[in-house]
Amino acid sequence: MDFKIAKSIFESLYSGVDGYDISSKARKNLPYASKAHTYGEVTPEGFDKILKDAETKSGGVFYDLGSGTGKAVILASLFGNFSKLVGIEIIKGLYHTSKNILARFDPEVKPILPLEKQKQTIKFINSDFLEFDFSDADVVFTHSTCFYDELM
Ligand SMILES: C[S@@+](CC[C@H](N)C(=O)[O-])C[C@H]1O[C@@H](n2cnc3c(N)ncnc32)[C@H](O)[C@@H]1O
Repeated sequence: MDFKIAKSIFESLYSGVDGYDISSKARKNLPYASKAHTYGEVTPEGFDKILKDAETKSGGVFYDLGSGTGKAVILASLFGNFSKLVGIEIIKGLYHTSKNILARFDPEVKPILPLEKQKQTIKFINSDFLEFDFSDADVVFTHSTCFYDELM
């Protein structure tokens, strides 16, 4: 898909969504703090490069472990050639935001995508990825800058 078109779809979906603020407020309500919950986001330019470098096969299964507001999953859907894309996020507020984005993606964006992309399945799951079976993955992305050693 043309980069400029994909980027403008992505920016319109995420307009007004502040993942940093959602994460910060949600983490204040948790009974514990973890360095691994530190928030950060992919950019369309950076993520496009990552996908190209990964040389992903067509029709594979993509996971984002720690998916935040779902940006990497949505970008992988727009830029990649996956059949199934799954984002797993432990912080409820971020997970709910990704679900809201998906609720708009399906009716507003899917119908204007090429036919093979319309067949993609996208899921967001509120879970600790350490407790989730992602063994059907072909590509695992994780934005792990602040993950502690044991988690890595
Ligand atoms: C740096 S953010 C990346 C967000 C998204 N992947 C992106 O690149 O736009 C890392 C995310 O991982 C989540 N996270 C950390 N440990 C997790 C775990 N064990 N299970 C699920 N999510 C986790 C954090 O809450 C945070 O939202």
